[in-house]
Amino acid sequence: MAALLSVNDLCVKYKTFEGIVHAVNGISFDIPERGTLGLVGESGAGKTTTALSLMRLIPAPPGIVERGKISFGGRDIHALSEAEMKKIRGNQISMIFQDPMTSLNPVLTVGLQISEAIVAHQNTSEREALKRTQEMLEKVQIPSARHKEYPHEFSGGMRQRVGIAMALACNPRLIIADEPTTALDVTIQAQVIELMRNLRQEFSTAMMLITHDLGVVGEVCDRVAVMYAGEIVEEGSLEQIFEDARHPYTTGLFKCIPDIEEDSSQIQPIMGLMPDPFDLPSGCCFHPRCPSCMEVCRVERPAFLRENGRTVQCHLYAKGGVTQ
Ligand SMILES: Nc1ncnc2c1ncn2[C@@H]1O[C@H](COP(=O)(O)OP(=O)(O)OP(=O)(O)O)[C@@H](O)[C@H]1O
Ligand SMILES: [Mg+2]
Repeated sequence: MAALLSVNDLCVKYKTFEGIVHAVNGISFDIPERGTLGLVGESGAGKTTTALSLMRLIPAPPGIVERGKISFGGRDIHALSEAEMKKIRGNQISMIFQDPMTSLNPVLTVGLQISEAIVAHQNTSEREALKRTQEMLEKVQIPSARHKEYPHEFSGGMRQRVGIAMALACNPRLIIADEPTTALDVTIQAQVIELMRNLRQEFSTAMMLITHDLGVVGEVCDRVAVMYAGEIVEEGSLEQIFEDARHPYTTGLFKCIPDIEEDSSQIQPIMGLMPDPFDLPSGCCFHPRCPSCMEVCRVERPAFLRENGRTVQCHLYAKGGVTQ
């Protein structure tokens, strides 16, 4: 069966006064209908750029989508007119942002904002839209009577729940959640994650969850893509990545997670910093920080090796794998 979303060799750059930022460098991945992909990586890895590309919202200038094919529901996103794309945004693909204040309008009541989105996309009457809005608020555990309130009257966690209600209101086929819980307290984070997990199942929506928190991925996702310096260096099922990570960057990420029960001296940060996006290293972009770096890693970009439904881009596995 064809995937709901299929990204092939996507490459996005930003042309700035300081030089060219190589934000996304030839990434490929699929999300099946109802699937959940966690996109994990350090700050600056290119996660938001990837998300914005799917919505065709890369600011241009400075952004340039240099190459790559994105197909959604069998349609080539780049071939659509802006009017057709507007119908897809919010209706078939919707986004949840890190800071819900960026997606909510401070001068409109939350109820009006949710129902406006419904009227715009679903061709319903205002009365029906209000009814649906109230249902959606109840679904995210906000009393429906509060639809008359403004965003500033809600707490951060509640605002994020309003954002979730808005994202789900038109019953989209794909939700892109970009660091949806990063700005929240840990306890509220857990509630929002639980809510997203339940609603996603209830609505049968596919999801791309962007986060730097592997714990969140473990709670919600069935597949994981690990992004480093604009590349997906490893991708696989949750089990493959959590139980049997291959790429030295992925194993490094797991060693960075503090474990409450274990001695904190066990934490081993990944040495060094992400490469300068203006001037990426030769060969494998992780080689300057890699504890297993070999001579070939400095000069040759590793091929994508596919095996048992997983992909890894690392010279350590060059033998025996199947090259793309
Ligand atoms: N509008 C822009 N103009 C110039 N450079 C940009 C722009 N947006 C992003 N970049 C650069 O592109 C690279 C990737 O950024 P992106 O925001 O996609 O990363 P990210 O993985 O989402 O990071 P974070 O975890 O901090 O949100 C970074 O080096 C960033 O500085
Ligand atoms: Mg980001």
